[in-house]
Amino acid sequence: MGLPTDFRYDFIAKVLITPEQIEQRVTKLGLEITEDYQDSDHLMLLGLLRGSVMFITDLMRRIHRPLTMDFMAISSYSGSESSGFVRIDHDHKASIAGWDVILVDDIIDSGHTIHTVSKLLMDRNPRSLKICALLDKPSRHKRHITIDYCGFSIPDEFVVGYGLDIDEKGRNLPYIAAVDLERYKAGNRA
Ligand code: IMP
Ligand code: MG
Repeated sequence: MGLPTDFRYDFIAKVLITPEQIEQRVTKLGLEITEDYQDSDHLMLLGLLRGSVMFITDLMRRIHRPLTMDFMAISSYSGSESSGFVRIDHDHKASIAGWDVILVDDIIDSGHTIHTVSKLLMDRNPRSLKICALLDKPSRHKRHITIDYCGFSIPDEFVVGYGLDIDEKGRNLPYIAAVDLERYKAGNRA
């Protein structure tokens, strides 16, 4: 029986980043973090649900230091454009006070989410706080954001795969792909 390797959502326009490229980059990020945290025995990866799940589970296997992992779930208030007003749907469980926290997200778009969540976390007195994002769309930033560990900078396209979704679809793809938004909308009307 052949494996169904040709599965594709019909709204995919093109593959931007292959599984091999993701794997290489995540390995490099893991090594960088391993080096940077040689002196820390209180390292915590704090992932934003749900987009960062695939990334964080791959990344943590490539960090050769003791670490813990926790998650937060955040919703942005307005529609497709995030507004800067975020709601915490699920807060992290462990205290971050005194911990070296790396906040892990799937993609930085306007930067509002990361900006707001970072500010909130700083009030909880971590020993340090750094930002790690798989993807960055620099041309879309509305906030000045320093991304300490960035996987890939991409152009202004809506992407899915490797955890990222469009209306919850596409998260299971092993690659990052651009969405054909016209075809996506047409498919939803049909
Ligand atoms: P920001 O607050 O505008 O930076 O929004 C970041 C959030 O919007 C990310 O964590 C994603 O959940 C979502 N997002 C932004 N761009 C994309 C995309 O191209 N594909 C999937 N989700 C995206
Ligand atoms: Mg997100």
